[in-house]
Amino acid sequence: MARIISVFSSKGGVGKTTITANLGAILASKFQKKVTLIDCNLTSSHLALYLGIYYSPITLNKVLRGDYQISEAIYIHSSGMQVVPASLSVTELEGSDLLKLPNVISSLEPTNDFLILDSAPGLGREALASLKSSREVLLVTTPIVSSVLDIVRAQEVLREIGVKPIGIVVNMATGASYEMRKEEIEQLTGLKVIATIPYDKDVYRSTALKQPIFLLNPNNRASKELVKLAAFISGVEYSEKKSLFEKVADKFRIIGSYFS
Ligand SMILES: Nc1ncnc2c1ncn2[C@@H]1O[C@H](COP(=O)(O)OP(=O)(O)OP(=O)(O)O)[C@@H](O)[C@H]1O
Ligand SMILES: [Mg+2]
Repeated sequence: MARIISVFSSKGGVGKTTITANLGAILASKFQKKVTLIDCNLTSSHLALYLGIYYSPITLNKVLRGDYQISEAIYIHSSGMQVVPASLSVTELEGSDLLKLPNVISSLEPTNDFLILDSAPGLGREALASLKSSREVLLVTTPIVSSVLDIVRAQEVLREIGVKPIGIVVNMATGASYEMRKEEIEQLTGLKVIATIPYDKDVYRSTALKQPIFLLNPNNRASKELVKLAAFISGVEYSEKKSLFEKVADKFRIIGSYFS
């Protein structure tokens, strides 16, 4: 049976889709897992675009409207993972029945190791539908207090739904002194910070190039944190080997953060 994981955040634009796309690509290509990513952000769907899937005539919307089976809405990415896109057309929102989502998702369980759901931001209908269709949730935040506090608030809803938090992914960290540190985030939320992904222009660039950063450059600092995240989630032992240059660069970054 597959693990069903929602990638969730209360705030928009913190990196859910970027993390979903990379996590899927790493689990499929590096850890040989059977993975299907599902774009559950129906009003602002980006997942297929981020993966260079431009032509997807059958979407999750059409499945939720009852026009097609989910098996007909699956597209294969070059990394080996499967992707279920949502429609880019607003008119296809009409008649998309979110109550059908849990059954649609669970029908993919027998043929996958991981089903990863890219959620809409916040706690509106779409995000709740994705959470209710999952058993586990990965919480994404930036290292800014307001974003972390939103996680504390969201935990109440997660408890009510009965979805289990795997932990937190801190994204877009710059190391600036005003950002919350890993230990502070863990203390405030009571959850483990699994990975801290740096703010890196190459991640932004990879989105524009329609390729997960891990596939473009597996040695990028963000890619290495994403591998650490995928290893943690799949229970694979992984220790990052840093070159001397990387160790020195880390030291400079720490020193630099005191002056920022
Ligand atoms: N670590 C990072 N460093 C630099 N840019 C990043 C990083 N992570 C994500 N981005 C960029 O930030 C933008 C927003 O990311 P993304 O679309 O993944 O966020 P999201 O949480 O899915 O947004 P939404 O809530 O709208 O669905 C994208 O252009 C992406 O390339
Ligand atoms: Mg998104």
